[in-house]
This record gives sequence, structure tokens and C-alpha cells, in this order.
Amino acid sequence: MSVSAAMAVAELSHSFTKTHLHSSQISFKSTRLVNHCHCAFRPFPQIRSTTISCSVATTEVKAPVIEQAEDPKNKSECFGVFCLTYDLKAEEETKTWKKLINVAVSGAAGMISNHLLFKLASGEVFGPDQPIALKLLGSERSFHALEGVAMELEDSLFPLLREVSIGINPYDVFQDVEWALLIGAKPRGPGMERADLLDINGQIFAEQGRALNAVASCNVKVIVVGNPCNTNALICLKNAPKIPAKNFHALTRLDENRAKCQLALKAGVFYDKVSNVTIWGNHSTTQVPDFLNARINGLPVIEVTKDRKWLEVEFTEKVQKRGGVLIKKWGRSSAASTAVSIADAIRSLVTPTPEGDWFSSGVYTNGNPYGIAEDIVFSMPCRSKGDGDYEFVNNVIFDDYLLERITKTEAELLAEKRCVAHLIGEGVAFCDIPEDTMLPGEM
Ligand code: LMR
Repeated sequence: MSVSAAMAVAELSHSFTKTHLHSSQISFKSTRLVNHCHCAFRPFPQIRSTTISCSVATTEVKAPVIEQAEDPKNKSECFGVFCLTYDLKAEEETKTWKKLINVAVSGAAGMISNHLLFKLASGEVFGPDQPIALKLLGSERSFHALEGVAMELEDSLFPLLREVSIGINPYDVFQDVEWALLIGAKPRGPGMERADLLDINGQIFAEQGRALNAVASCNVKVIVVGNPCNTNALICLKNAPKIPAKNFHALTRLDENRAKCQLALKAGVFYDKVSNVTIWGNHSTTQVPDFLNARINGLPVIEVTKDRKWLEVEFTEKVQKRGGVLIKKWGRSSAASTAVSIADAIRSLVTPTPEGDWFSSGVYTNGNPYGIAEDIVFSMPCRSKGDGDYEFVNNVIFDDYLLERITKTEAELLAEKRCVAHLIGEGVAFCDIPEDTMLPGEM
């Protein structure tokens, strides 16, 4: 997310040193939220402020609230009105609501988050009976902006938004989270090689993977947005061995949405008539928007458009390079449409996929039925029962054109993987990234 990530980069926490606590300053977060899974769970000490009691349902044990440590910014703190105690069971309208979910967002003071957080809080993503706790990860540099975001969330009076906390330490912010939306990443700066970007962002995602592994819910679902998102997701999952690799996603839903729009435009139909669109591979300019399996009004796109040449050349390039064109117009990376696509990606996992359709997500390749190399994160067609999990789709077809393109994007991801070997426990990195490896936003 080149330009908007310039803001988001400010959200990254590079300081992962744990706060020094006196024993009298420690309360354990595990008393606030019950961890239902059976993975080895290491409760992480959390500190609270003196006068504030954070939101706790009456059915849960309330931890003693003790003196706060020296640097309040080093811990995640409930914010303003969200520090008030409430009891969902006490109100007629809220007692049928689901159990509160904890959602962490990194790069929380950036442009993408600024669109996304309000969607999450409104209930349009997780549903109208799903109360939510937002845990916002920022950085020292962006801390004031993070407070500004939290203030705007306060002023929006969202009924479902029950808790908001802000912090700069991922080990603190990711405590017990069931969803982690990893948006913050460093943009590629002038003169920076792609290998440098892979390394810098890779370090961040390795650290965030370790933090998730240590303190998140063991079935946490992770969506990596910060670029290069496929390889960042791979690094993250490799550093989080306690979390199923299947739970990690790289965001390619934006590319799918872009492809749907272009196909609708070509066919002269509204975009809700376009289905079965797969983005294969990397969120880069080698990505493959699959027109072979795509459908318009249930019919193959090739039959409807009768213009294979347009599909192979113009359509494909338009989708691959859409991010760059947008940057030229806006002067910064896509933010609103990225946020919409993150919301779509979550919704696709928490609601059953419509019969016969599928969605694209960058997922771990082990066990895939398409012959894609194992042990990378590759965008493929998925379906969900709405339980947060997904399965691969079986009834897709391939032709030589599609296979050739898929091989190219696969080679690119394998090269990116070699380039971050040092971050995934595979020895010494060797960077031979092909020249055409570019993010959609890079020109
Ligand atoms: C996008 O697809 O819009 C972004 O990933 C572009 C970018 O490079 O930031």
C-alpha cells in the first residue's frame, strides 16, 4: 500500500521490549476473557490504569485494577468511554447478542484503517448481533493519531462497539484476539530494492507472528494486508507455529473486486451478475485474474464477452495494474476500496458462500488440489460454511494460457520465499526476484 502505507508505517511497532513491571502492577488479562481452546496458552501480564475499570461483563471475574507502570504508551489501554463497565445480559435488546469478539487492527491510524474501523464497529461486517472489541496497534510516532481515531470511534456511538483499546506493543494488543487484521507495513521508499522491502516488512510480520503465537486466541484468523502481503503472510504464519497455517490469509479480495468491476463493464451488466472470479497467485503484477472460470449471469465470461484477446491482454493488465493507476489519480494508495475488500474478505469467512460461487484469498498452499507448489501463500478459489474456516473449490478448469500464467506467479512467490529464508527458519536468504515483481501500486 505504497502511499497510504506511509501513514500506516507510522503505526508499526518496532519496540517489542516488554514493559518492566513490578509484581504489584500486574493483572492478568486471562481473567478478563476466557480462552476456550486447548493450545498451550501463555498468559501475558497486562497493566491497567489506576482509576479506570475497563469494560467487563458481570459474568466474568474482575481482575484487581492496580497501579500503572511508568510508560502508559507501552501498554494497550482501554480508551475513554470504552473503559466503562457494562453488562450485555442486563439489557433486553443486548442479551441475545453473541459473545464479544476481539479484533486487532495494526496500522490503526492509517488511511485504510480509518475506513475499516467504522465498518467493523457498525456491525456490517460481523453482523448486527455481534458485539466487538477493537484493539488498535499503532506506534510511538502515531500515538496521538491513534488517540484521534479512538475519539472518533467514541463519538460515533456504535451500539455494538463495546471496547476499544490502543497500544504500541503487539504482545499486549494481540492478547486473546480472534481476528488480526495486519494492515501496517512500510512502503517502498526511493532507491529501496524490493529485497529490502521484503526484509524490512518481513521483520515486522515475523515479530507480529511471534506475538500472535504467544498471546492471541489459538484459532485466531489473520488477514495480512501490508505488502508484499503473500510473503508477509507466509512469514507471519511460520513465526506462529501454534496457530493453524490455514488461518492466515493474504488480501487478494481487492483484486477480485477490481476484476469483477471490469468484467461487468465489458458485458454491460451490473457487477452483482459477475461470479466465480478467482485471482490466482501473488498480489503483484503477476497475479492472474481468471476469466476462464468466471461467469456472468451464470454463463462463462468467454461466451458472454466473445473477446478472448481483450480478456488476455486489456482485462488482465487492467486488474494487475489498477493499484498504480489509482495512485496516479489520488496521489496515494487505495484506501477506501481496500477497506471494503477487507470487510468483504471477513464476511466471506463468517457467512456461507452462495451455492456454486467462491471467493479468492491468498492462503497456505499445503494440500491444495491445483498442483500449486506447497509451502507458500497463494491466492486461490475458496468456499466457506461461514464458520471462519474455508475449503478449496474442486470444479475449476485450466487451459494452457491459465497454467502458464499461474506458473509465472508461482515462480515469483517461490523467489520471494527464498529471499526471506532467514525470516522463516530456512537458513540464508538468496534473493533472485524476477524483474517484473512489482506491487500493483508500483510503476
Ligand atoms: C493496491 O493494490 O492498490 C495496492 O496494493 C497498491 C500498492 O502497491 O500499495
